Order: sequence, then C-alpha cells, then structure tokens
Amino acid sequence: MDGWTREQLRHVGRLWRFSSNPAATVYDSIGADFFLAPAPGWLNLGLWEGPGDDAEAAVAPRRLVEVMAGRLPRGGVVLDVGNGLGAQDPVIAEVAAPRTLVAVNITESQLHAGRLRLAQAGAHPVVGDATRIPLGDGTVDAVISVEAAFHFPSRPAFFAEVRRVLRPGGRLVMSDISTERLPRTPRELLAGVTSLRFWGLGLAAAASAAAIRQQALDAGLVDVGVERIGRRVFEPMLRWAASKVQRAPAPRSQRWAARLMLAQWSLLRRRGLLDYILLEATAPPPASAERAA
Ligand SMILES: C[S@@+](CC[C@H](N)C(=O)[O-])C[C@H]1O[C@@H](n2cnc3c(N)ncnc32)[C@H](O)[C@@H]1O
Repeated sequence: MDGWTREQLRHVGRLWRFSSNPAATVYDSIGADFFLAPAPGWLNLGLWEGPGDDAEAAVAPRRLVEVMAGRLPRGGVVLDVGNGLGAQDPVIAEVAAPRTLVAVNITESQLHAGRLRLAQAGAHPVVGDATRIPLGDGTVDAVISVEAAFHFPSRPAFFAEVRRVLRPGGRLVMSDISTERLPRTPRELLAGVTSLRFWGLGLAAAASAAAIRQQALDAGLVDVGVERIGRRVFEPMLRWAASKVQRAPAPRSQRWAARLMLAQWSLLRRRGLLDYILLEATAPPPASAERAA
C-alpha cells in the first residue's frame, strides 16, 4: 500500500489478533518519526499550559517528564520503564542526576532508534518487560514510568515488580491513562473497543484512577497519591492534533486513520470515560524500622 511500511501493514493485519507482544507491534508500526508526535522523539501526550498550539506542542512532552523527574530522589539508581524513543532520558538525567539510569523497554527498535539520546543520558538500555524487570530485589532508588502502564500485560504485576526492585523508602513516579467508567452506549462501546484494538490493549488496560491506586496499595506500596490531570493533557493535545493531522506530510490513508482514532478519543474524553493520572508511591520501610517508629 502506498506510503505504508511493512511494520504498519503488520499492525493493521493484527488489529483483530495481536501477537504475544502487542506493544512492540504497535510501536514498531508507529516508528521513530510518527507524524502526530508533538515533538521529535516524544510519544507522550504532554503536559500543556496553553490551549494547544504548535509552540506548546514543542515543549509539552518534555514538561511532563520534567515535572515527574523533579519528584524523584536525586543522585540515586533510577529505573525508567517504557522509555519510548529515549527523549525523556536526557531530561531525567538532567533533573534527577541519577548515579545510574537504566531504561527498560519492550520495543527493541525504540531502544535502537533512541541510542544517541540514551548515550547522552548515560543510560543503560535493556530490552525487557515491566512485569518481569530484569533487576535484583531492593537494587533501585526510584522508578519512573511515563505513559506506558496501560500497555503492560498487568498493572498489578508491574506494581509487584516495582515493590520488589525498590529499596525500602524508594519512590515510584508514573503517569498513566485511566478509564473512569465503562461505556454506556453503543457509540461509546465502539469508540472504546476501537481504541483498545488500535493500541493492542486488553480489557485490563481500562481501570479507573481509584482502581489503579488500589492496585499499587495491594502490591504493598505506601503513601500512594494520585492526581487527575486530564484537562492539562487531553483537551489541548486533541485540539493541536486535530489541526496537525490536516497538514501532516503523511499518506492520505494514514491521516484518515489518525482522524478516526482522534475522533474516538475525543468522544471518550468528552463523555468522561478517559482521564490522565500522575501517581506517586513509596516502598515501605522494613518491618523492623516500622516497629521501632
Ligand atoms: C506511549 S509510549 C511512551 C513513551 C515514552 N515514555 C514517552 O513519553 O515518549 C509507551 C512505551 O511503553 C513501552 N512499553 C509497552 N509495554 C511495555 C512493557 N510491557 N514493558 C516495558 N515497556 C513497555 C513501549 O514500547 C513504549 O516505549
């Protein structure tokens, strides 16, 4: 098909039957220069201050990571889970000055595409799954995960792994997309199913902010705080993307597919199904320290 890569055609072919690694299929298809990325190298929806114009699009994804990295302890061992094309790693390095930075991503092609940014950050790239983190118990001071957890095979399994790899008192800072209620009409159901299939997601991806918070608590994390910040993410991002899709230098069929996807998201957001969250949590101190306190 004109203008489509082999990876994009594989993505379309798998819309109804994903492989065992659906996230990698999706991100191999999106590639390293996605025409709706707000800024080169970035794949998050951004933290916006304005109504959603080009000038803001250039800085909003970075601002999200700056805010999140600013909540990490400085100078520690930091694990970045689902690091995309690596644009966030130099920002994490700059803001949190980690002693060691490890970037785990299930999409190998992204680690390859982002290798210069990873090198600039002094980060160690690791191909791996957030639900089976290839690091030892209690070896990490902080985990950051930017807009990736809705892809993970299981959020509870991810939180259990975070709890395992964090040292006592270690911090988790993550952003995620929450689903605040289930569809009530055929139109909402269609929008929900289309979005899940496009992104290679199962039903478990759809969890409310309160349910995600509870999953973190159930994994044994403490001081779990959740902020719902959808208004600083979805409305400006969707406004900007609707304008960008008209002028993007992409094949007409891809722009049509993107417009369809944006229409589903806009509906889900307008009707209160989707929100965007920032979650922070702490690994508990050892039981002996708690008894002494
Ligand atoms: C929406 S992108 C966000 C990318 C990046 N954090 C950013 O802000 O630009 C989601 C990322 O999560 C990664 N990912 C998805 N499932 C994963 C898993 N099970 N384990 C590790 N990374 C995963 C994808 O490969 C992708 O890099």
